[in-house]
Amino acid sequence: MIVAQISDMHIKRRGHFLHHMPHVARPLHRTLSAIARLRPDCIIATGDLTEAGTLAEYARLREILNKYTGSPIYLLPGNHDRREALRSVFWDHQYLRNSADGVLFAIERASLRIVALDSSDERRAGGYLDEARLEWLRRCLCERPNTPTILAMHHPPFPTGIRSVERQAFLGREALERIVRAHPQIRRIVCGHVHQPLANAWSGTVGVTAPSTAPTLALHSGALALSWEPGGFLIHRYEQSTGLTTTLIRVAAKPVALTA
Ligand SMILES: [Fe+2]
Repeated sequence: MIVAQISDMHIKRRGHFLHHMPHVARPLHRTLSAIARLRPDCIIATGDLTEAGTLAEYARLREILNKYTGSPIYLLPGNHDRREALRSVFWDHQYLRNSADGVLFAIERASLRIVALDSSDERRAGGYLDEARLEWLRRCLCERPNTPTILAMHHPPFPTGIRSVERQAFLGREALERIVRAHPQIRRIVCGHVHQPLANAWSGTVGVTAPSTAPTLALHSGALALSWEPGGFLIHRYEQSTGLTTTLIRVAAKPVALTA
């Protein structure tokens, strides 16, 4: 069972540029091509699908994703997204409408479960888990206590060491911590938001963040700036004998020619 994770695509309207993320569509095309070669069972996108959550941006995202005809893609919103516009453009993604409390869904394939937990509130940058979402998570995890599970969300609840992110309040973090501790079937918490790959142990499991598919941001520098590293994605591979392994794959703008 192979799950590919992409994150923080920040897709914008055609012709619109941001100084710190000038190119976002082409890197996403390249990332999807690289993923296609690995034939994952599914792809999960952990938020900030678009820059401003407009209908035009989701339409452009849809156009890009439509060119990819491989594995099913599941979309989870981040703080830059807007649920109603997302649901309206991706009208055929039924799981987006499972709940009125946010985008909350679970998928199960070949003895691995992915539980997707909406951690975004449209009025704030930091994480937001109210009682309704936490209650949904409790119930969902109690349904399959023995099935290895990936918990996917946009905001990392674990420490990242990035000052600007640590300063953002995360509502419901302590309650989430108790839930995660009580459910050892959670093998990984997979997030985005920080545009950098990192890992940390938290509440009896391992939390990881995916890089952005667009060029990486140098968030550790204190100021928002482009880093030299290309974007990329994560592969989470589950096998009964080895458990869950996570690999980072960078997607370079141009293939590097190797000479002897
Ligand atoms: Fe982002």
